[in-house]
Amino acid sequence: MGQGNAVGGEFGGYFKKTFLWESEAEASSEAVVSQLTNSLRASFGLKHYERSFKQDESLMLNAFEEMVPHGKVSFKEIFKENKGEEEAVRPVKLEICSGTGEWVVSQARADPGSDWVSLEWRRDRVYNTFTRMVFESVANLAVMDGDASKALIFTK
Ligand SMILES: C[S@@+](CC[C@H](N)C(=O)[O-])C[C@H]1O[C@@H](n2cnc3c(N)ncnc32)[C@H](O)[C@@H]1O
Repeated sequence: MGQGNAVGGEFGGYFKKTFLWESEAEASSEAVVSQLTNSLRASFGLKHYERSFKQDESLMLNAFEEMVPHGKVSFKEIFKENKGEEEAVRPVKLEICSGTGEWVVSQARADPGSDWVSLEWRRDRVYNTFTRMVFESVANLAVMDGDASKALIFTK
């Protein structure tokens, strides 16, 4: 399963599936998109990636605008590239409190007919999950940083 290249290259597709929430407050769609992008730049290496691969910064903003319509993460949008024409329904499965991601990454690899989401509030562990996803080339996983008791209100 290949990564979409709307953000450029193989690696860019993983950033599109990684959501680092800084705030619990409901915010405008524009503010959410900019916060998500800035968090990836500040702590997950997006800035370095954009510089190294000469990616236009607006590509990521545009990608998140699609993924996060009305300020909420749309699983349908995130995973739309994975849906085969023959599939009427593609389940989305979540691991809440996913730790460093070992289990969820292996589940996603073993279950290519579903899309998977990890949710964890410790950012170092979210980063572990992100790197596992990248190094194991897992395209049917989205990685979310947030408090399980609140973060799901940011999804639809
Ligand atoms: C036992 S560990 C996870 C193990 C993981 N499920 C596995 O099988 O490898 C529990 C995790 O839940 C996270 N956690 C606890 N409360 C949470 C909350 N309210 N929101 C998100 N993550 C939480 C902890 O930071 C910790 O990483």
